Order: sequence, then C-alpha cells, then structure tokens
Amino acid sequence: MNKLSRLALVVSFASLFPLSAMAADSKGSVEVVHWWTSGGEKAAVDVLKAQVEKDGFTWKDGAVAGGGGSTAMTVLKSRAVAGNPPGVAQIKGPDIQEWASTGLLDTDVLKDVAKSEKWDSLLDKKVSDTVKYDGDYVAVPVNIHRVNWLWINPEVFKKAGITKNPTTLEEFYAAGDKLKAAGFIPLAHGGQPWQDSTVFEAVVLSVMGVDGYKKALVDLDNAALTGPEMVKALTELKKVATYMDADGKGQDWNLEAAKVINGKAGMQIMGDWAKSEWTAAKKVAGKDYECVAFPGTDKAFTYNIDSLAVFKQKDAGTAAGQQDIAKVVLGENFQKVFSINKGSIPVRNDMLNNMEQLGFDSCAQTAAKDFLADAKSGGLQPSMAHNMATTLAVQGAFFDVVTNYINDPKADPADTAKKLGAAVKSSK
Ligand code: BGC
Repeated sequence: MNKLSRLALVVSFASLFPLSAMAADSKGSVEVVHWWTSGGEKAAVDVLKAQVEKDGFTWKDGAVAGGGGSTAMTVLKSRAVAGNPPGVAQIKGPDIQEWASTGLLDTDVLKDVAKSEKWDSLLDKKVSDTVKYDGDYVAVPVNIHRVNWLWINPEVFKKAGITKNPTTLEEFYAAGDKLKAAGFIPLAHGGQPWQDSTVFEAVVLSVMGVDGYKKALVDLDNAALTGPEMVKALTELKKVATYMDADGKGQDWNLEAAKVINGKAGMQIMGDWAKSEWTAAKKVAGKDYECVAFPGTDKAFTYNIDSLAVFKQKDAGTAAGQQDIAKVVLGENFQKVFSINKGSIPVRNDMLNNMEQLGFDSCAQTAAKDFLADAKSGGLQPSMAHNMATTLAVQGAFFDVVTNYINDPKADPADTAKKLGAAVKSSK
C-alpha cells in the first residue's frame, strides 16, 4: 500500500469513530494522538489512560506507531486539514507555536487548571515558555527526556574485555573494536532518519562543545554549520557509523534496544526513553545496565520535553476531558509513575530536587542533577533530532543530509557540511 492510501485509511478509520461514540455514563470523550507504542512507552501511557478513565472520561487511543513521531505528525496534519483534529495530541517544541498560530489550538481551555494548579510556579520558565502561546497555555508538559545518553550492557563489556565505560570518542572506538573482535554488535542502531540524527547531534555536541552545538543546531548559524568544526564532527560521525548494527537499516529503536538488553549488542546511543525498555524487561539501572553521557558530553544535557497540546473542540464533555488530562499530568503521583515507566524525569521543579526520596533510580537521579546544573551553566540545550530546537521543516533538512551522508560510502564531510548549510537555509 502506498503512503497516501495508508494515510487515507487512517483518516477514514478515524471518521468511523466519532467523538460521540462513548459509554452512556461517560463524562466526555477525548481522543489522544501520540506515538508511545513500544512495550515500555505503552506501559507509561497506560498510566494516564487508566487515571482519565477512572475520572469518568472515555479515552480514545490515537496511537500512531513510529519512533520520533514523524508518522504521527503526518497523520495529525491530515486530520487537521480534513477538519477532524483530535482533542489532544503529542506535539513538541517550536511546533507547538506553529500549530497555535494556525488558530487550531485552544488558548482558553487550560486557563483555570493552570491557575488553580499553579503551573507558573511549578515549571521552569524554559519549560512553560515552550507550551505557551502569547502567554496562554496551549499544551501541558508531561516529562523531560535527556537525549545524549549511551546505554551499556556491562555483562557484554566484561565478555569483550572492556574494563571502563568510554568517556571520550577514542575510548568509544576502542570499546567498539573490542566488541567487534568478540563477536558482538558494537552499537545497536536502527537506521531511520531520526535515529541517525540522534547520533549526529550527540557527536556534534561532543566535537563542537555546547557553544558550537548551539550555534549550529539551535541558532542555525551558517558559519557553524559549514565550518571546520562541523567537518570534524561529520568525520567522527562516519567513524561512529562503522560500529552500527549491520542489520539495523530501517529498524525500530526499541528492537535495537532489545539487542543490548539481550546481550547481542554492547551499546546504544539513544534518549532515555530507551530506559523504558530496560524497565519493562525488569532490568535494574547500575546493575544490569549502565547509562552514561555520550562520550565528551557529560557537561551538557540535550533536552526533549513531551507535551500534550489541546485542540479546539465543540463538545463540552471533550473540553472537560482535556482539563482532566492536564490536571492529572502535572499531578505529583502521575509525574512520578509515568516517568519511572518512561525513563524520563518529571517537569516539576519541586520533584527534580527530590529524586532519590521519590524513589527514582540512579540514571534518573543523574539526569535531574545534570538538568538543574546545566540549566545554570548553559549546558542545557534543546534537541534538534527531537523537535525541540527547530521547526519540523528545518529538522527535515537535517535529517535528509545526515541520513544520506551516513549511507553514502563516497560522501565527503566537507561537501556534506556545505550541503547542510544550504539545506537548512532553504528550509527556514
Ligand atoms: C519522544 C519520546 C519517545 C521517543 C521514541 C521521542 O521523540 O519524545 O517520548 O519515546 O521519541 O518514540
């Protein structure tokens, strides 16, 4: 089936289930579009669904498979064009502003909840600014993910004779060589564009440092995008790619995570939603697996905030459901249970300062400590690969150039840096 007819099928299925189709005693029905479909992600979103249903609302699950969310965003756009947007959708970063500027997001429905639940004082300004449009909340932030992590199976490292977790790119390559020699997949990696760019931005951060990362991937400065530092980053990226799973082309991130969990691979470069798979497999952080900052990036935190945006709806029951979701999401209990399942950390400032007492594991404690420290030092930077730094159009330009570069054996880093500059410029 081609892409277009698949999309049409999704849209026509959606119209088979109008919002009014709900149990007679329901207070209202809300459809939630999201892309949390791996085992660990589903366990996390089920916590929200269960609470919303307990509160008397009908949860219509609008899950769209596809890591990183590009497929979900395509479906959302076609739904909006067809005049049938869901009540709630997972949207991130600058795209929240873009959606709000179309007039489709509701600027009123969250006002009372935000005021009575004191969101302004619960949230860091960086977080609340992301989910506000012209001063009004149009989305509720759910959690914070750190993207620049390296996941390690220590048992595999031991078998390969590696005695130290890598902290530099040289040590990373040395570990990769030992893993290869011992017959393991050095780096579990699914060759989908968003995964390629997740690795690319980690390498850029490692090679160019926080300032270089910010100039190139956040400020989209042409000199930084095309300069010698970027050429160096691209050269290192090609080397990192030599350790990637040979069977990983087009593979989902969670299937690659499973290879590290099952002891077939030694490492994975992935945001901390990868931890949700380890948790679902009943593995313990610091014992069965290690989370370390990607080599050379321990003083930085590339952040990725999951948010649920609210679309204007005519039905009062749906509006009440949107408010219920928003209230539940920022509640302390949900923030804890969801993030423990999801691998993330809470968005609430009071909780970020109290992670050990709240029962979070060592990876989450490190993430929260680093988030707070890096917010002060400037090391806290939005992730490009996860829609936090740019719009989807600019992100798409990065994805194309990076994935072509990784897959083209003849690609030249200097030419690629030029292409990157040109592609970003024309997508702005
Ligand atoms: C989202 C996560 C999700 C991951 C994999 C990221 O962009 O922020 O919530 O788990 O993609 O799909």
